[in-house]
Parts: sequence; structure tokens; C-alpha cells
Amino acid sequence: MGTMNGKVVMVTGAAAGIGLASAEAFAKAGATTVLVDINEPKEQAGKLVSEGYKAVAYRCDVSDTQAVKEMVDWIAATYRRLDAALNNAGIQTPQRPMAEITDEEFDRTVAVDLKGVWNCMRYEILQMLKQGGGAIVNTSSQGGVTGFPGQAAYIACKHAVIGLTRTAAIDYAAQGIRINAVCPGAIRTPMAEELIRRNPQVEVDLLRDIPAGRLGRPEEIANAVLWLCSPQASFVDGHVLLVDGAFSI
Ligand code: NAI
Repeated sequence: MGTMNGKVVMVTGAAAGIGLASAEAFAKAGATTVLVDINEPKEQAGKLVSEGYKAVAYRCDVSDTQAVKEMVDWIAATYRRLDAALNNAGIQTPQRPMAEITDEEFDRTVAVDLKGVWNCMRYEILQMLKQGGGAIVNTSSQGGVTGFPGQAAYIACKHAVIGLTRTAAIDYAAQGIRINAVCPGAIRTPMAEELIRRNPQVEVDLLRDIPAGRLGRPEEIANAVLWLCSPQASFVDGHVLLVDGAFSI
């Protein structure tokens, strides 16, 4: 029996990286897991099903409010509940100083990294209120409490996700909905690999600056997310959990 046995969980950005590792962790802990991504994660969900776990793929662009509403409605109609959610889908802008980031890049980053979390949280909360509780984790970033060169739009969103998490946690604590944020440090995922491919110096700097001396693995974030959503974290609410190999200290 896993810690999430019988639970229904949705994970956004579940086609790759931290989202995929988290969806795998939820499924292996016994949850029926909905893998949500703009690139429908059919193969990823199919692999979990072939291994005997309960998983399903759902294509959704989290910046599309109506599509997010329909997705949560579909989950509620299909499974009658939504016990936990990881709002994790995110994009970065190309690495450039603030004044060189275009309005289009800023707008799309805000649409996915902030409005996407907003959209998902709103409909998740409305469902969780109907059923009397739930647990939500939003993926911010270690840069959401510090900063990161050349990522002004992205980092602004990650700071905002922390404010959103803390405020919503206060708003819904009495109704049994726990809302926390996880702040990954540098984690080896397709997103990080792309940043390093464009600017190899980034990896050199990270390896020098991270006290742990390495980048993290997606599973190391998934473990934190799973715990935050589990009954073991029943009094952890509005918390911002850094998982970064002491990078932010
Ligand atoms: P990734 O790029 O490997 O995976 C992100 C996933 O989100 C992809 O599968 C992508 O298709 C999906 N996605 C993008 N836009 C979407 C949209 N509009 N709707 C639905 N899905 C969408 O990224 P990674 O590294 O796994 O990042 C996951 C989260 O962790 C992001 O929010 C990122 O900002 C955050 N993070 C990552 C860090 C890292 O070092 N990898 C560090 C700190 C935070």
C-alpha cells in the first residue's frame, strides 16, 4: 500500500523532467495519476499502465483558462474527485538581460508560468472545496527566492508563484486544502539541458556555486512533492520548500 493509495492526482508538465518524475512517483505510491502536458504524454502514461500503475494522459495548454476548466471538469466527472495536484508546467525565456526580453516573450512566460498556475489552482480548489479538502503543490524555483541572470520574466513569475501559494494557503486552510510550493535548484531536465546547450558556461558556474557539487535529479524533487501531498505533511501549509543542494544559502 503506497502513501497515495486510492487518491486521484493531476500533474502538469508531466511529459518530461520534474513533472514526469513526479507523476511516476505518485503512480508508484498508488495514486490514479493524470499526466497533463501541452505535448500529450501518451507514451509516458502508457508505460506506467504497462507496469501495472493507474495513469492517463491529458493534453492541455495550462495558459488556456477554458481548457483548464474542461480538464478539471473531466477529472471530476471521471474519477469523482481530485485529491492532489502539482502545478509544474513551465517555460523559460532565452537567456538575455531584462531590457532585451521582448514583450511577446514576457507575455508568453507570464501566461504559462504564472497564469497557468493561477488557472489550475482556481479549478482544483473549486473541486477540492466540493469534496472537503485536498493538497496542491506549485513548482516555483530556487530563483523564486533569489534570482537568476538573464531570466527576469521567468524569475518574476517564480516569485509571484510563491506569493500566490502563500495567500491561497491562508484563504483555504480552514477548508482543508493545503497549498505549498517546491523550489527546485538546478535539476538535470530537458529545460536545464537546453539552457546549458545554449550557454555551456552556465553548467560550469552551477557546478562551482552549488555546495552539493552537482545538479539535482528530477526524482529528488518528486520525492519532496510526494511528501508535501501525503498525509505525513498534514500540518505543512503555505510552506516554500527549497530542494537545491544548499545552492540558495
Ligand atoms: P521541462 O522543460 O523539462 O518540462 C516542462 C514540461 O512542461 C514539458 O513537458 C512541457 O511540454 C510542459 N509545458 C510547457 N508549456 C506548457 C503549457 N503551456 N501547458 C502544459 N504543459 C506545458 O522542465 P523542468 O525542468 O522539468 O521544469 C518543470 C518545472 O520546474 C518548471 O516550472 C520549471 O520552471 C521548474 N524549475 C526547473 C528547474 C530546473 O533546473 N530544471 C529549476 C527550478 C524550477
